[in-house]
Amino acid sequence: MLWLIVSAVAVLCLPPVPALNNGLARTPPMGWLHWERFTCETDCVRNPTTCISEQLFMQMADMMVSNGWLQAGYKYLCIDDCWLAAQRDENYRLQADPDRFPGGIKKLADYVHARGLLLGIYQDVGKQTCAGYPGSQGFYDVDAQTFADWGVDLLKFDGCNYGTLEQLEDGYRHMSIALNRTGRNIVYSCEWPFYARRLTKVNYTEVAEYCNSWRNFDDIQDSWASVKYLMDFTASLQDELVDAAGPGGWNDPDMLVIGNFGLSWEQEVTQMALWSIMAAPLLMSNDLRDINPRSKALLQNQEVIAINQDPLGAQGYRLLQVIDFEVWEKPLAGGSLAVSVTNRQEIGGARQFILLRGILWKGLACKDKCYLTQLLPTRHDYGGFNATFFIQLSVNPSGTVLLRVD
Ligand SMILES: *[C@@H]1O[C@H](CO)[C@@H](O)[C@H](O)[C@H]1NC(C)=O
Ligand SMILES: *[C@@H]1O[C@H](CO)[C@@H](O)[C@H](O)[C@H]1NC(C)=O
Repeated sequence: MLWLIVSAVAVLCLPPVPALNNGLARTPPMGWLHWERFTCETDCVRNPTTCISEQLFMQMADMMVSNGWLQAGYKYLCIDDCWLAAQRDENYRLQADPDRFPGGIKKLADYVHARGLLLGIYQDVGKQTCAGYPGSQGFYDVDAQTFADWGVDLLKFDGCNYGTLEQLEDGYRHMSIALNRTGRNIVYSCEWPFYARRLTKVNYTEVAEYCNSWRNFDDIQDSWASVKYLMDFTASLQDELVDAAGPGGWNDPDMLVIGNFGLSWEQEVTQMALWSIMAAPLLMSNDLRDINPRSKALLQNQEVIAINQDPLGAQGYRLLQVIDFEVWEKPLAGGSLAVSVTNRQEIGGARQFILLRGILWKGLACKDKCYLTQLLPTRHDYGGFNATFFIQLSVNPSGTVLLRVD
């Protein structure tokens, strides 16, 4: 089968919007975040190995160093909701739950830093966090200073219980300025567009001026349905989202759930390939103490990570959909290109897709002398090709073939 595709999408090539000028997140942040896998488990009597506690983070820190994660680029170890005590202290400063974090966050930050990692923490722009702990509203300056004093390196700032749209937006701006005023380098990860989009048209130019990354959509779940949903949503908004992304500011389709329970091997490949194409933050949420070797190798694949971390910082986009295939591409530095082909049919076996050189990005530097490498699901060198080249790919249901053109 050969299709003639006359025109694909208009290629998006506006100059990138200016990003938050704090020198951070020049490539998408990489690390580990507890939420999807460990949620809000606070019962350390019944669940001593999976409850949200300093022990969990110390063990993950050890795993990140000893099992090659840090070396592969995953350097932020991030705490999500449910780390807080129910009350602020007598000086209105936040405090960690004393039973689950007896050493406090400063000591945990020291432990993490001593291993060459960075520590991320969680708070909320509203009166309470999503799980009902004290939020930052009314305390932005004091909380930013507390995080800086503790040695925190990244803040995930959620948007539950925010009040009015104006309070939500002012809160996100205020915290950005408060973090800057501390003088400490703290990556600022927002959920501003996700909450604001229900009430207004999001101004991504402004979001990118205040945040290093921003969530647009619901929390990921450990399922193929959720991965598909995030791909579809991102593609549906790509005219807005792609131009907003670049060094210093990234759209965040949420955590990598590779290595958990819900995705088949093909679907894990699809998430890794597409999150790389989308220039998404690569924040895994899985149990690094118990992860199968194939998932681990996928998450640590250096050539795939290089697509995500490419210094050009362009977010990829869906180029076309045809008979239940979708093709995405991501321009890379030096006129190279990443291309993914996903088989969205969920019945039968592998299907063949014919990829034509002619439909790909016109900015390709190689013109008549390109070199094609398949990175996923397995590595394969296709060698050189010219402007009329086409290639037949075999793609399994819900799987993806990821290619690189140089
Ligand atoms: C604070 O903002 C200024 C101006 O944008 C920037 O030059 C500086 O690097 C920022 N500092 C921190 C710690 O984020
Ligand atoms: C979006 O925000 C930018 C930067 O803050 C501003 O210059 C622009 O006017 C805003 N656009 C709209 C449509 O409000």
